[in-house]
Amino acid sequence: MKFLKIAICSMLIESSSAFVPASSKATTVSSLRMEGTTTLNPFASFAKLFENNKSTNASKQRFQTSSAEASVRSFIDDVNARKDRMDLVNYFDDDVKFVDTAFYNPVEGKDALLRHFYLHADSSGLSTFSEDSQKTIVVDNVAASIEEDNDVSKVCVLYHLEEGGMQIPDSTAITFYNLKNDKIYQVFDATEPPSPKPADSGLKLLKTVSKLIGDDSIVIGNENIATSGSSVEKYFDAWNRRDMIDAVSNFSDDCVVRDTQFDNSFEGKEEFERHLLRVEECLPGTFNFVIDDIALTPKNAGVSWHVENNGDALSFTRGVSFYEVNESGLISSGIEIPEKAPPKNGLISTISSKFEKEPIRYIPAAIWVGYMYILFISEGILPGVNALQLEQRTWEEVRDLSLNFFLVSPILNLPFAPVVHPMLEGVFNLLLAWAAMFAGFLSDERKNKPNLLPWGPMLVGMQFLTSGFLLPYLFTRSVEKDDLVYKEDIDGELQAKVGEWKPLGGALATVGTYSIAWAFIGRPEFGDFDERYSSFIDLLSIDRVGSSFLVDLAIFAVFQSWFIDDDLKRRGVDIESETALRNIGKVIPFFGLAYYLTFRPSLPSRDEIVEKKSE
Ligand SMILES: *[C@@H]1O[C@H](CO)[C@@H](O)[C@H](O)[C@H]1NC(C)=O
Ligand SMILES: *[C@@H]1O[C@H](CO)[C@@H](O)[C@H](O)[C@H]1NC(C)=O
Ligand SMILES: *[C@@H]1O[C@H](CO)[C@@H](O)[C@H](O)[C@H]1NC(C)=O
Ligand SMILES: *[C@@H]1O[C@H](CO)[C@@H](O)[C@H](O)[C@H]1NC(C)=O
Repeated sequence: MKFLKIAICSMLIESSSAFVPASSKATTVSSLRMEGTTTLNPFASFAKLFENNKSTNASKQRFQTSSAEASVRSFIDDVNARKDRMDLVNYFDDDVKFVDTAFYNPVEGKDALLRHFYLHADSSGLSTFSEDSQKTIVVDNVAASIEEDNDVSKVCVLYHLEEGGMQIPDSTAITFYNLKNDKIYQVFDATEPPSPKPADSGLKLLKTVSKLIGDDSIVIGNENIATSGSSVEKYFDAWNRRDMIDAVSNFSDDCVVRDTQFDNSFEGKEEFERHLLRVEECLPGTFNFVIDDIALTPKNAGVSWHVENNGDALSFTRGVSFYEVNESGLISSGIEIPEKAPPKNGLISTISSKFEKEPIRYIPAAIWVGYMYILFISEGILPGVNALQLEQRTWEEVRDLSLNFFLVSPILNLPFAPVVHPMLEGVFNLLLAWAAMFAGFLSDERKNKPNLLPWGPMLVGMQFLTSGFLLPYLFTRSVEKDDLVYKEDIDGELQAKVGEWKPLGGALATVGTYSIAWAFIGRPEFGDFDERYSSFIDLLSIDRVGSSFLVDLAIFAVFQSWFIDDDLKRRGVDIESETALRNIGKVIPFFGLAYYLTFRPSLPSRDEIVEKKSE
């Protein structure tokens, strides 16, 4: 049902912001950029706003508002300057709610925001840029105001992205910030849709199915926004009353309005009015555009809004608009950006950019798809019925193997230890020891290098579905930087201890050796090699899960090498000089990895370095 809802919404959205008409005249984005009207002197507009109001603490108000705007501008400058993300998040409140409409869910809290910045760099303007990106945010206009009774500052920024001095197509965006004490505690950001623009093809459909959808959980409006009777508010109000003549009377004769759902702007009051009238006929009378927040100055206004049907908020219909007001108080230009309809492209662009930068990721991705298909769905590629059929026999086998985990119970002769084919047990426990050995690379997950799929939980998952977890981790993991890493940087104290524990490789190599020996000589009742080998082959010929273990061993053998170079870099080792260690780790399956973990240099610890310096 939820899926249906999203699907319907995505069709709807294409049309829902049709509250501005299509036009035949082409207008370039730059004509709307409103240069020269940017708040060159943010004090001027506020001096005007408060000059006749002696009872207000005017000087304080003005100062706070301009300092909020300064904070936002400074944040944007720091994003452009590629400042450390640990510093960037200091512009935000601890409980910040950060809505980037390229993603489905808001980012909540400063820690989550830091993670978002690391993981999703480049996926949208406000997600920060990666180190190799040339993009910058260019601010076109700012509207900033303050709510007197609660000291909340509102800063609305119209911007676009540039690369090498050129504007990136379809990159115009608006962000609405809320600040208190100069900390940003709420952000709503929307970027114009990519070309070709959706236009109004879905307008009629919107009318038909509007009764089916409604979800106000994602609206982030402020409960009581003060109305001030500005022309922008009058425009929304008149529109909702479907009095389009009244609505356009709040625009200047030469107004230029752009709805980013459409390719072209509407120029002049008449063209705009014609469109509003047409839209009125298409949209249900029950639709309202509700203002969630407004940053208002005498010169301009930024508005965040959402659409309601009969008072119920519709999903994915939020948006932001930026208007300029002429000196007579009439709207002279406007740009309206509705949020991107599902499917949202934030996560998709994060993942696809990883594949673009490192096409080798297609290899584990393809193997993973094949692996999951062969294990769970296919018939006849691997023996046995597919794993989804959950045969009684499969369950029992997995249960028995798990009871004999690392061969502890059979060795101790525990009463509950079931009898399982020793070769199957050998393969199973070798595989688990190998999977556990990848814990030696826990330093791949750090606060400043999170991975889309966190490595710790993926390692635990590998004890259950080995390659099913290893491969997705490999094709989605974040790229390692070249910096030296300290032991303290590893995310989690336990992880740091386990990952850097020297005996790890040796201990697991022992388990592996024992498992191999067990396969050949354990449980003497299974006979000599020939006998147990042929009964093992018979067993595998009907056993999908058992035969998949052999596939897993092969996958581990191939991909253990993927971790080595990055791990050496973290330890400050020149990968060209440490050829022996590096090659043994990469080339010799299982035992080479154990050797590598035992003889690689330790990660330095910050404490030790401080001690050395003070000596
Ligand atoms: C003027 O001051 C009063 C009292 O503080 C306040 O309610 C009102 O909103 C102010 N008006 C303007 C335009 O600042
Ligand atoms: C103006 O603000 C300051 C600092 O908050 C305060 O101490 C002062 O009493 C205020 N003045 C008026 C007239 O409200
Ligand atoms: C703006 O809209 C209001 C109604 O919402 C209307 O009364 C007014 O005449 C319009 N025009 C101007 C210039 O304010
Ligand atoms: C604002 O727009 C109106 C309508 O187009 C126009 O009559 C008026 O002169 C404009 N005001 C200024 C200061 O340009």
